[in-house]
Amino acid sequence: MNILGKSRYHEVYARSLADPEGFWAEAAREIDWIEPAKKIFDSTQGAYGRWFTGAVVNTCYNALDRHVETGRADQLALIHDSPLTNTITKFTYAELLREVQTLAAIMTDFGVTKGDRVILYMPMVPEAVVAMLACARIGVVHSVVFGGFAAKELATRIDDARPKLIFSASCGIEPGRVVQYKPLLDEAIRLASARPDACIILQRPQAECDLTPRRDYDWASLRKKALLAGKLAPCVPVLATDPLYILYTSGTTGVPKGVVRDNGGHLVAVKWSMFNLYGVNPGEVWWCGSDIGWVVGHSYIVYGPLFHGATSVMYEGKPVGTPDAGAFWRVISEHKAVAFFTAPTAFRAIKKEDPEGKFIRQYDLSRFRTLFLAGERADPPTVEWAEAQLEVPVIDHWWQTETGWCIAGNPMGLGMLPVKHGSPTVPMPGYQVDVVDESAKPVPANTMGSIVIRLPMPPGCLPTLWQQEDRFRDAYLTEFPGYYKTSDAGFKDDDGYVFVMGRTDDIINVAGHRLSTGGMEEILASHPDVAECAVLGVNDAIKGEVPCGFLVLKAGVTRAPVEIEKEIVALVRERLGPVAAFKLAITVARLPKTRSGKILRGTMKKIADGEPWSMPATIEDPKVLEEIGAALKDRV
Ligand code: COA
Ligand code: AMP
Repeated sequence: MNILGKSRYHEVYARSLADPEGFWAEAAREIDWIEPAKKIFDSTQGAYGRWFTGAVVNTCYNALDRHVETGRADQLALIHDSPLTNTITKFTYAELLREVQTLAAIMTDFGVTKGDRVILYMPMVPEAVVAMLACARIGVVHSVVFGGFAAKELATRIDDARPKLIFSASCGIEPGRVVQYKPLLDEAIRLASARPDACIILQRPQAECDLTPRRDYDWASLRKKALLAGKLAPCVPVLATDPLYILYTSGTTGVPKGVVRDNGGHLVAVKWSMFNLYGVNPGEVWWCGSDIGWVVGHSYIVYGPLFHGATSVMYEGKPVGTPDAGAFWRVISEHKAVAFFTAPTAFRAIKKEDPEGKFIRQYDLSRFRTLFLAGERADPPTVEWAEAQLEVPVIDHWWQTETGWCIAGNPMGLGMLPVKHGSPTVPMPGYQVDVVDESAKPVPANTMGSIVIRLPMPPGCLPTLWQQEDRFRDAYLTEFPGYYKTSDAGFKDDDGYVFVMGRTDDIINVAGHRLSTGGMEEILASHPDVAECAVLGVNDAIKGEVPCGFLVLKAGVTRAPVEIEKEIVALVRERLGPVAAFKLAITVARLPKTRSGKILRGTMKKIADGEPWSMPATIEDPKVLEEIGAALKDRV
């Protein structure tokens, strides 16, 4: 079968591997550098080498100033569409630049300078984008914490990043409820041992909050004063290898990993992807329906579209219920988006409400060219439904917080390759993706194994974890020497298509959100009545997976299990946050274990999912699995 078609992909990909420096030097011409790189790739620096060493650049300049200087001043840069507040707010490139220059000047007045860290704990409001770009403008390292995480998670990040300043808001808005952010922020600062110098708080009319004297400042007043005084901060030159941001992601324990993104590699790779992968042209409207708290939001709500001179849509709403399952089509049609990026879970939610796609046909989607899916495996039935309803290519692509951009995808700008349902298609330039066995030997096509990326990683990927170089090497580089370990398992077929089937660690994917079951187990185990526990991801028709916790109570506990289960559910919500969607805790007498004491999570999951399972040969007591089956009855 000739799967090549007319795509330039194979030629481009081959060149990226044969001459990586030539390839990325050419891609780097799309970026405005203050000083060019001394070396395109320096293999002597960092854990596996560094890209664009010696180059001097400013990320914000490339996102805003240069477009204003070259004719895009009056083009829309950002459209904020919020069905949750019934508002649509638009910023041209010139307007967004002015906001960013002003906020950067305010930050400078607070004594924040290059290399300092600033945390954002914010809902999906345009001010969050302004704050990220203002940090980039003055060389400050931002760390955005997703609003659905609890105070304790925020506290962990405050202690790790040690921010001088925190940006937050009085509230976020979820359907049917206003989420008060300020008590969560106050609690996080109380729990953390590091203290920010100040917090800048955006008062939202849906629920204003009290400001803590001598620590909290009202965002709007600061902005007004700075605008009146005409304060505008210039761009601060930084090294390409300096960090642009830290983004915390779930590790295999409760302690999150601070993924570091550098300025230069990120600029080059993300800019390259906008046309070559997503097929979007400068001046067009692009919509990424993620949250700025996730990597997808960083790369494709904020940075990618702006580096490219496109218009980015930022959406504060849900796929269903705000107000209905036509919300996505309304946004695409109203803002004339040519491409849209979301998670398969959102489509499953829409399909459930509107299986016949009636809402879709109420909107003019004539400009819409491509739907991109990522964040979790795009299950073939969902992809087929979306293809049939939308009549545009539906493109799955696979990546991670660590990589910052796509590892395997279908490059629309280079020419679309045939889609195979269940596969995110082929490796992107610079990624040599192998599937290996335990001894790091590549396995034959169509054989499952660990998916790894041959070092060096392409530009844009993480150079390290924030102040944890050893953890970086241990977690990613040690197990398969010469490779980066993705912790995903899967296979490549005869055509080189990658199939990503699941994680090899304890990470589960809940509605496209990455969560550690190990982290949840730590919370369950902290309950005074719990002797032992296990958390696993069980199948869910909408969210893909949801966590399910099994508890063994301490001997002598006489309280009703149902009460303890309720407390456990509340505890996870309080410590980890609502995003965990932890709603199921089940008390059992014992956990199934091997004779060496390992909990048989895999078999428990199969039982919970109603899949065929066989009795593990090493099981200590086969009867325990029957007990698990009985406990699960009527619960999942
Ligand atoms: N602040 C506070 N709480 C938040 C939050 C935020 N920013 N985001 C989510 N939550 C809360 C929700 O209100 C919900 O709380 P509840 O338990 O009281 O209902 C909980 O966290 C889980 O949220 P969510 O995962 O959004 O589930 P949902 O049931 O509200 O909606 C979907 C389900 C499928 C519609 C939704 O998950 C979705 O749109 N997913 C797409 C995600 C996406 O695009 N990801 C991109 C990654 S590539
Ligand atoms: P995150 O770092 O939160 O973006 O999550 C990354 C993880 O999500 C990956 O390691 C995969 O397990 C999963 N993932 C993301 N996109 C896909 C995809 N297109 N197909 C399969 N798994 C995916």
